[in-house]
Amino acid sequence: MNVFTILNERELNHEFDVAHNMRYHRIPNETVRRLPIYLRGLIFSLEQGQEKVSSRRLAELLAVNPSQIRKDFSYFGDFGTPGVGYNIKKLTKEISKILKLDVGHKTALVGVGNLGSAVLAYPGFKLYGFDIAAAFDSDPKKVGRKINNVLIEDVSKLKTLKRRGIRLGIIAVPRQAAQEIVDSLVKAGVNGILNFCPCYITVPKKVKVIKIDIAMDLARLPYYMPVS
Ligand code: NAI
Repeated sequence: MNVFTILNERELNHEFDVAHNMRYHRIPNETVRRLPIYLRGLIFSLEQGQEKVSSRRLAELLAVNPSQIRKDFSYFGDFGTPGVGYNIKKLTKEISKILKLDVGHKTALVGVGNLGSAVLAYPGFKLYGFDIAAAFDSDPKKVGRKINNVLIEDVSKLKTLKRRGIRLGIIAVPRQAAQEIVDSLVKAGVNGILNFCPCYITVPKKVKVIKIDIAMDLARLPYYMPVS
């Protein structure tokens, strides 16, 4: 099940299909960063059987500021009625389209160690349309095994990604191997990379990299803690 099966396309108002890319190219990056958070709150509200949600309720749910929500939503149309709230289905569909989550994304994972295995086993990516369709490792003991029904293939098979329609990659290899793997992914037609490795990698301009680093987030946490 993903966000679109929850929505039930037939119930949706298709007036929102209009040239969305042209309309939304001015959404600030900071707003785009918050959109997945809003989407999570909206999906939760949908699952609770609600049809409308106020910015105040959504703000409570997500621990964010209601005026920030109103400002962010104002970039892409008028989905709210004062005193009634936002139409959850329409807004969910709109945000999914802006984020391009309305089409499925086949994804490859490289490095099936401690972290990679946990990523493969996590069911939560499906909700947003991500299907980890391939996994690769260089360790012959891991190649041929399956996790969550995904076969672990030898890393030399990365070149098959293009013809398999996989354009998104997640890397969880040791940092010494990161750049080489990224180069192979790019060569294989991947143009979006989620990088878990604690290092900087270089990519051509057309490729987008998002880096995840729990240690960096932890490192700024004590700053916000009260002095005891
Ligand atoms: P691990 O050692 O358990 O797993 C690494 C896997 O990569 C192994 O299965 C290994 O066989 C494979 N591998 C090594 N070289 C390869 C290559 N050239 N091609 C394909 N596969 C290759 O390590 P772990 O703990 O899973 O960490 C993976 C990476 O994620 C590391 O770079 C680590 O520093 C990073 N990490 C990042 C975190 C974050 O918050 N961003 C948190 C934890 C780990």
